[in-house]
Amino acid sequence: MKSHKNTKIRKAVFPVGGLGTRFLPATKSMPKEMLPVVDKPLIHYAFEEAKAAGVEQFIFVTGRNKHAINDHFDNVYELQSVLGARNKRKELELTSDWLPEAGNVIFVRQQEPLGLGHAVWCARHLVGDEPFAVILADDMVLSKTPCLQQMAGAYAQVGGNILGVMDIPRAQTASYGIVDIDDKKKPADKRLVAAKGLVEKPAPDKAPSTLSIIGRYILQPEVFTLLDKQQPGAGGEIQLTDAIARMQDIYGYRFEGTRYDCGSLSGFVAANVAYALERKDLRGQVIKELDAVLERSGVKK
Ligand code: G1P
Repeated sequence: MKSHKNTKIRKAVFPVGGLGTRFLPATKSMPKEMLPVVDKPLIHYAFEEAKAAGVEQFIFVTGRNKHAINDHFDNVYELQSVLGARNKRKELELTSDWLPEAGNVIFVRQQEPLGLGHAVWCARHLVGDEPFAVILADDMVLSKTPCLQQMAGAYAQVGGNILGVMDIPRAQTASYGIVDIDDKKKPADKRLVAAKGLVEKPAPDKAPSTLSIIGRYILQPEVFTLLDKQQPGAGGEIQLTDAIARMQDIYGYRFEGTRYDCGSLSGFVAANVAYALERKDLRGQVIKELDAVLERSGVKK
């Protein structure tokens, strides 16, 4: 395999074509990636994380009913002119100061929901022949250093393919891609784990470990060639995990931080609480209100 070890990660792919059925009716006419955690949509956190890792081009693989994501990454002239006229500087900044330079936000359609592997493959012509990142917006990681930035640091040391990983209870392996750990290789960075294989959503008794992939990847472009011919796997879908498993130099990276599963209702609510508590302007009031809610609902006596 060609080594792209020292190439900077300039591009990130955001698969955002999912239907978000767990969040109905909220997602009936709104993409799930636009659900807010406190006051920012999920996709905005994913975008900021990519930016912090040095990414310059943001590639969104969208589907039907995802127009709100396109609009989020554009100017909103009516609102901006009103805010400008009223001299609302801070609000104006929030609408547009963070917008990437024109030409660096790219949308491509996944016409059929054939799986995560297929979604990433839809970005192949836009990524071209260089390493790239994939971020799943519904996996949020609250950490000191943004998760993808941590992984980019590890990538600069070892190259190859790096997946964000964490341990989960064995009973949950059927919801994740699971790492088959290669004990013979011991990377110098203690957060790195070498993998000799990956299994997508194995039953608990078949899982090679409890080390699971969460939605952060740094991948070599060869994955596209493998995805060209990737057969459907778990759930009848074309799985990204299956294509990565056929590559060389696969590492899990045990990131520092707490992951919130915003693909689940409870994880999404927990993320809202956790991110609100991180905010100096909200923390005190939120604690008071949470305390009151816990008392009123009989949880806290
Ligand atoms: C996807 C991946 C899986 C990974 C998970 C993390 O699954 O296929 O390997 O562990 O994201 O959230 P999904 O949650 O889309 O079913």
